[in-house]
Amino acid sequence: MIKLHDLYFKPFISEEEVDATVQRLVDEIANDLQDEIPVFVGILNGSFMFVSDFVKKYPKPCEVTFIKLASYEGLKSTEDIHRLIGLTQDLSGRKVVILEDIIDSGNTLKEVHRIFENENVDELKIATLFYKPEAYKKDFKLHYVGIEIPNKFIVGYGLDYNGLGRDLPAIYQLKTTQHMTNLVLFGPPGAGKGTQANFLKEKYNLVHISTGDVFRFNIKNKTALGMLAKSFMDKGELVPDQVTIDLLNAEVEKNTGANGFIFDGFPRTNAQAEALDHLMDSKDSQINAMIALEVDDEVLVGRLLERGKTSGRKDDADESIIRNRITEYYKKTAILKDYYAAQDKYFGVDGVGSIEDITERLNKVIDKL
Ligand code: IMP
Ligand code: MG
Repeated sequence: MIKLHDLYFKPFISEEEVDATVQRLVDEIANDLQDEIPVFVGILNGSFMFVSDFVKKYPKPCEVTFIKLASYEGLKSTEDIHRLIGLTQDLSGRKVVILEDIIDSGNTLKEVHRIFENENVDELKIATLFYKPEAYKKDFKLHYVGIEIPNKFIVGYGLDYNGLGRDLPAIYQLKTTQHMTNLVLFGPPGAGKGTQANFLKEKYNLVHISTGDVFRFNIKNKTALGMLAKSFMDKGELVPDQVTIDLLNAEVEKNTGANGFIFDGFPRTNAQAEALDHLMDSKDSQINAMIALEVDDEVLVGRLLERGKTSGRKDDADESIIRNRITEYYKKTAILKDYYAAQDKYFGVDGVGSIEDITERLNKVIDKL
């Protein structure tokens, strides 16, 4: 991943693939032009690298010239094309091939056609290394197209974001979600997970997603996914992972402005952890850490029995039930500890001490991510 100005970009098309594409375009064009000496016209600034590599590969004599147009501001194409350098030589009777780095809206291409309107060239052909069909709004023919790409902003190999990125030899694509910190929070019953999650979401602008709460909310509000989940629960069956993931996806989508998420109560199995990784991946994001609050069993039992005196929760009142819940927790989370440890993403945090002390320990881990 790379950062240019304020934005993050991820690897998209490798140097090798770009090179092979340039070669393919050279072959197609050389084959069509045969022994004519063409004039290749690069559109500056974006096409300088493409034109350079292209003519180095071109197997026969050719001429090269440039025109300089500017239309892009930041991440958007504008209708207003500035002609910064026009044609400086007579091209009448010549076979001309425009070499564009990328065709997006087609506004630049329209200006190119206007420039050539009265030039009396023998033939004007358009070649572009990258093409965004979903963005193209003109109907000028594109004679040679390197790679069709989705309508997402890219940089590298001549293409820039506000001046940066032109020097990169490969292509990078704007990440659909910008940098997020996503945590999976674990802790045995009584570890103070809820309390700490509240501090974390405040401090880091994270959204706390507790699977239990998500289920209850969706069932109560009779959403389609909630009803689907309920249909399994009513039969006494486990809700399939995909349904849970779909619910989580909906929560993530609802909070696109967040700096990240705290997942609580999910994943519980390896398969779920993988599914969560896929979900994050589809958002151009990732799970950064599994953080587990570590508290000695005896301390937990003591805390829960204390809480049981006032909370009225039956499962907090009975010591053997409490011990069972703790044992269950370790049985279930051991697998996940291994899963995240294998990716260097497991962080155990001492959960004994004052609330502030524990918060401080958590902050230290998160600040380092
Ligand atoms: P169009 O005029 O909208 O077709 O855009 C053409 C010009 O916009 C290109 O020559 C680039 O300079 C710029 N452009 C379009 N899409 C991108 C992109 O994804 N990254 C960087 N520049 C782009
Ligand atoms: Mg350009």
